[in-house]
Amino acid sequence: MSADGHNLPPPGARADWTIDQNWDRYTAAEHQVWIKLYERQSALLPGRACDPFLRGLDALDLHRAGIPDFARINEELQRLTGWTVVAVPGLVPDDVFFEHLANRRFPAGHFIRKPEELDYLQEPDVFHDVFGHVPMLTDPTFADYMQAYGEGGLRALHLGQLHNLARLYWYTVEFGLLQTPAGLRIYGAGIVSSHAESIFALDDPSPNRLGFDLGRVMRTPYRIDDFQQVYFVVPSLQALLDATLADFGALYAWLGAQPDVPIDAVLPSDQVFTRGTQAYAKAGGRG
Ligand code: PHE
Ligand code: FE
Repeated sequence: MSADGHNLPPPGARADWTIDQNWDRYTAAEHQVWIKLYERQSALLPGRACDPFLRGLDALDLHRAGIPDFARINEELQRLTGWTVVAVPGLVPDDVFFEHLANRRFPAGHFIRKPEELDYLQEPDVFHDVFGHVPMLTDPTFADYMQAYGEGGLRALHLGQLHNLARLYWYTVEFGLLQTPAGLRIYGAGIVSSHAESIFALDDPSPNRLGFDLGRVMRTPYRIDDFQQVYFVVPSLQALLDATLADFGALYAWLGAQPDVPIDAVLPSDQVFTRGTQAYAKAGGRG
């Protein structure tokens, strides 16, 4: 979500780290990467991604030829929920990131991955950020959640509690699953923007799939280098928003006295959707 360290924007960026998207400068080869990724994911996601995501994808018309022009997306996005997408060079410092979210601006990397990196990359690019994150921002409830998260992030920074709050982001915004009458569906951006994880997260017998519980999630470490070993399922987006409305002060104090939960654990108090075999992780994962 963001980079640590110094807070000076790179040369050419504004004080809030935004830059012009410079949409005219994308090459035909770069647009081609978007089209390839788009076609692959849009064929896979019906029946896997949740309805708000699929509706958002359509509403924003992200299937036009090539990398979307943020100015065009923003007309519709602003109208729907008051959010806008702003271009940044790459990862931005935590405080800058939260300040944008708190003001309903989503910072998106403007670059796109290389054709040989379709499946895996280190830093979020425009496909992850825009295809993965922006459709959910058309949903009014999720839009409010992201803004609240930004405000909560600024508070957590001041309280020295970001390590806990970052887990909430990871297991919801990036890797969250939603319970629906038709079965589990994906809403997390890290899943919907990954072909392999869009299958793994729902179908693979390896990971645990557990009911979302705020304190439990904040006690659970995560992995950034491979498929998740546990996914958390929210009963609805409204339930997610409601669970985060309370002041986290007391929760942070409680968490300070709790040990982490091992990443592959299933606790007696967990609501179990799937008890995973962990076979993928035990075999060494991506390796
Ligand atoms: N209620 C949280 C707090 O007091 C803020 C928050 C909202 C954090 C939504 C994350 C998500 O810090
Ligand atoms: Fe992301």
